[in-house]
Amino acid sequence: MKDKINKYINDINNIIISDNSEIQNFQNIYLGKKGVISNLFIEFKNIPNNEKKEIGQLLNKLKTTATHKLNSFTVKKTKTTKSPTLDFTMPSNYEKAGSTHPLTKVQNKIINIFEKVGFSISTGPEIEDDWHNFSALNMAKDHPARDMQDTFFISLQPERLLRTHTSSVQIRYMEKNTPPIRIISPGRVYRKEDISARAHCIFHQIEGLYIDQNVSFADLKKMIMYFVQSLFGQEVKIRFRPSFFPFTEPSAEVDIYWGLKTETDYRITKGTGWLEILGCGMIDPNVLDNVNIDSNKFSGFAFGLGIERITMLLYQVDDLRLFFENDLRFLKQFKKLVI
Ligand code: PHE
Repeated sequence: MKDKINKYINDINNIIISDNSEIQNFQNIYLGKKGVISNLFIEFKNIPNNEKKEIGQLLNKLKTTATHKLNSFTVKKTKTTKSPTLDFTMPSNYEKAGSTHPLTKVQNKIINIFEKVGFSISTGPEIEDDWHNFSALNMAKDHPARDMQDTFFISLQPERLLRTHTSSVQIRYMEKNTPPIRIISPGRVYRKEDISARAHCIFHQIEGLYIDQNVSFADLKKMIMYFVQSLFGQEVKIRFRPSFFPFTEPSAEVDIYWGLKTETDYRITKGTGWLEILGCGMIDPNVLDNVNIDSNKFSGFAFGLGIERITMLLYQVDDLRLFFENDLRFLKQFKKLVI
């Protein structure tokens, strides 16, 4: 029996264990209820008394050796789970960050340009009534100018429609405030247009309103010049073209000369190099009267521009529909771009 026990002690000392299932095996074989050691203790009962002392000590030695060995495995095991090997150079699985939509980037830039010269932001509802979208802006019910903006009507009684421009916000603002007024109204607008590379039924505008005493067309031109130079650079070339809007008199449209450097320039400018970027004019006295601002004392100008067009030019996007599809392959390209 002595030899048997010594052999076990020797075996245990030499054992090398590498995984959890082997540890479990070790425990079962040596320290389990029906394991080697408990069997030896049963055998121990039958050995002659004079050998008991020596063999008893040996058996105890075997038991402590096995227990220590087992503990050493467990200690090793907990050690590895507590401090796993970390490779700090591995790429992490971080959440991918989104980025600002190109239209928002350009809108923020434009807002910033006007805020610098004292304009503040005013917003209004996208669902409008006839008064704020049309009548107050000098477009009576049967006014042919209503055709310029194909309208989505929501209900006739009460009359509700999707605003066709953010000029409606200007009416709301003038109804509640007195001059001097300097506001810009950014927002989404709707028109019943066939969707194509150049037109969409939803788009974004920023409209500006400036009212004070003795405001002239020269002030308007100066403001537009300041704006286009801030956005496109000092060298920008623009032209004012006489135009018509029911709510401004006189009215003009402003074209920018963009040139024909790229295929996209050809597409966006229809091969002319020029692109209309905004409408503007001196506020018609009828509009001021509609909102109870004294048109003998005050005058002002207004302008409105489409954010998509400007974004298309700046970022060389030749299809307007891309802005609304939210295709990540498209949006990702604007992540690092600053304007
Ligand atoms: N509201 C006009 C449009 O949507 C733009 C505009 C605004 C024109 C202000 C002149 C003055 O087309």
